Amino acid sequence: METVLITGASRGIGKALTEEFLSQGWRVFAAMRNPKKAEFLLPSKETSSFLELIQLDVTSDDSVAAAAESVRKATGQLHILVNNAAVKPEEGEERLADMKLEWFQQAFETNVVAVARMIQQFRSLLVSGSCIANISSLLASISSKNDFGYYAYGVSKAALNMLTRTVAAEFAPDGIAVAAISPGWVRTEMGGTNAPLSPKESAQNLFRMITNLKMDQSGLFMGREGSSSEYPW
Ligand SMILES: NC(=O)c1ccc[n+]([C@@H]2O[C@H](COP(=O)([O-])OP(=O)(O)OC[C@H]3O[C@@H](n4cnc5c(N)ncnc54)[C@H](OP(=O)(O)O)[C@@H]3O)[C@@H](O)[C@H]2O)c1
Repeated sequence: METVLITGASRGIGKALTEEFLSQGWRVFAAMRNPKKAEFLLPSKETSSFLELIQLDVTSDDSVAAAAESVRKATGQLHILVNNAAVKPEEGEERLADMKLEWFQQAFETNVVAVARMIQQFRSLLVSGSCIANISSLLASISSKNDFGYYAYGVSKAALNMLTRTVAAEFAPDGIAVAAISPGWVRTEMGGTNAPLSPKESAQNLFRMITNLKMDQSGLFMGREGSSSEYPW
């Protein structure tokens, strides 16, 4: 059976992705900070024997190491690692003068450093044919940036894209594809109520993109299905 680990599975896109992978018959390690609190959101173990809730705070060395060890005990390998957990510390409309510098640190800690930590700890579970999907954002696109706003979040996601591209180059000889994928603008706590996509719509699109990811797409920044799926860096 094919296996996937999804971070930030407690709500929003991570929860919808968990449900989508489960409905497609995958074994899902749904990783979240507080599995007890989130258990009611997800199919119970009785209704889905393919679901395992994993306690995971992506910003903690100990937590990520323990999660990797528990997945290692449960399965020899992971086919897909989805680095979805993220924070957007600011509202988004702030000018630089109004930005708290700790917001940059918080965004980097969760959206960049934690992804590097996840990949370090889970690398030994990935085999040739596995892939890593780093959930990025159109707000990461440097060449599309023409207005101010989303300072900490946008800068951190641009850094995530560089991390993605660099890891893709390192892992290519081992047959592991690594891509940065934007989920679109989605109605979640982060995306707000005006977003056009439901979490389920976004998750269905992400599922198709991630499960069809080929080595020749490794290192890409992607956002839509089909021939125009590349986003501008
Ligand atoms: N929504 C959009 O329109 C949109 C657009 C572009 C990109 N994205 C990206 O899509 C991904 C999912 O976003 P979303 O809209 O679903 O966000 P969300 O509703 O705010 O959910 C964020 C998730 O990340 C988890 N998380 C945050 N810090 C964590 C930590 N230290 N350890 C473990 N989990 C942590 C949260 O867990 P808790 O429940 O424990 O807080 C939650 O499950 C993110 O990478 C985001 O940047 C979203």
